[in-house]
Amino acid sequence: MPSTSVFGAQWGDEGKGKIIDRLAREADIVARYQGGANAGHTVVVADEKYVLHLIPSGILHPGKINVIGNGVAVDPLVLLEEVDGLRQRGIAVDGSNLVVSAGAHLILEHHKRLDILSERWKGTGRIGTTGRGIGPAYADKCSRTGLRVGDLLDADRFRERLEATLIEKNAWIAKVHGEEPFDLEQSFQRYAAIGERLAPFVRDTGALLRRSYAEGRSILFEGAQGMLLDLDHGTYPYVTSSNTGVGGIGPGAGFPPSKIDRAIGIAKAYCTRVGEGPFPSEDHGAQGERLRELGCEYGATTGRPRRCGWFDAVSARYTLELNGADGWVMTNLDVLTSFEEIPVAVAYEARGERYAEYPASLPSLDGIEVVLEKRPGWKEDITGVRRYEDLPQAARAYVEWVEEAVGTPIVLLSVGPERDQVIPRGI
Ligand code: GDP
Ligand code: IMO
Ligand code: MG
Repeated sequence: MPSTSVFGAQWGDEGKGKIIDRLAREADIVARYQGGANAGHTVVVADEKYVLHLIPSGILHPGKINVIGNGVAVDPLVLLEEVDGLRQRGIAVDGSNLVVSAGAHLILEHHKRLDILSERWKGTGRIGTTGRGIGPAYADKCSRTGLRVGDLLDADRFRERLEATLIEKNAWIAKVHGEEPFDLEQSFQRYAAIGERLAPFVRDTGALLRRSYAEGRSILFEGAQGMLLDLDHGTYPYVTSSNTGVGGIGPGAGFPPSKIDRAIGIAKAYCTRVGEGPFPSEDHGAQGERLRELGCEYGATTGRPRRCGWFDAVSARYTLELNGADGWVMTNLDVLTSFEEIPVAVAYEARGERYAEYPASLPSLDGIEVVLEKRPGWKEDITGVRRYEDLPQAARAYVEWVEEAVGTPIVLLSVGPERDQVIPRGI
């Protein structure tokens, strides 16, 4: 398929990295279009684990072009660290397989500081951000005070724009938060030194994507975060600051939405969430704890334990519909092995009302109760299964029942973190 959008259909960490890496075998280009180093995408290749924050998950395949589009919030320090880290592990990274948009907004040190200070200020109302400066950087973009990757390539321009913004940020940091302001000269020197190293990667990535598509090359758009963290359609205000699904691709990659040929959602066979905010099917008891341990559910970016709960068919139906998904991938099915019974949320209830569809009309999901239905579990180890018909009957029944409840076909199953631990089902 010439262009495919791959997006998270839950609250992030659905296994997008693994699936993108898998699908990248047949793609020419992998492009990120939103988010920043708040993402942590894990790819496991023969016992080697790679966690990618900014670089697309196609980087482990030689010969693919990896694009960081204009909609990504780029922390240049993290980007170069990631480049160095991959090179140290023998992965070639240069301007031929990694390109960065000149128009991508920069995350600078004051954004990271303000992210942390703003969370402190909010106290118990905090969002539980990753602290990577995402919100403040996107706020600057919308306020038209942001600095962009292209600015780093011109020292005079960079200095002028940094000075203009730092005056305001420093006032905020010192007067509102009572903290030490940044020194302009030190900040300038830190980033000015980086421009030269970044220059070989910087391109007009939108033109590259559009031309490649016109020439028949295939593109994978790698979503970060998940649709329930989407700025517009997620559980606001407990969301991230970008449009995480198909809708983010047009503005965030400079690629025409009319040319997106296929959309594939990724969702776990259960649910997790990191940070604060509503999570209707969360299991606060021993079963949730068991999911966390069996699924190694600890954040790839911050190491925080992930909150765990059951598959939520109501929200999955909503996120897949929002993106016009042609299919979805169910990951981590192996983690459900050994559960006697597996609950799934099939409806919501609040204030005496039952909701079969996601209640986007409510101001928040706070106080929502879920209606759970249980399916029988299985005991057999499924991590070595590669053909759908070889799965235990109960596992197949679970998959088919969830698929029916969600209403979109499951095109691939994932039964372990490794590249090849997948069961094709139509992809
Ligand atoms: P992403 O942010 O969506 O790329 O997901 P993360 O990498 O943050 O988290 C997914 C975690 O699950 C990683 O540790 C993966 O290695 C792991 N993983 C991916 N697919 C599977 C699977 O099918 N089974 C198991 N047990 N782990 C998986
Ligand atoms: P990947 O791409 C899971 C969550 C944070 C917090 C909220 C806002 O690996 O799936 P932010 O730092 O973006 O301002 O935090 O969003 N969050 C993620 N949760 N996976 C992610 O990315 C996330 N990126 C942000 O925990 O609740
Ligand atoms: Mg992740």
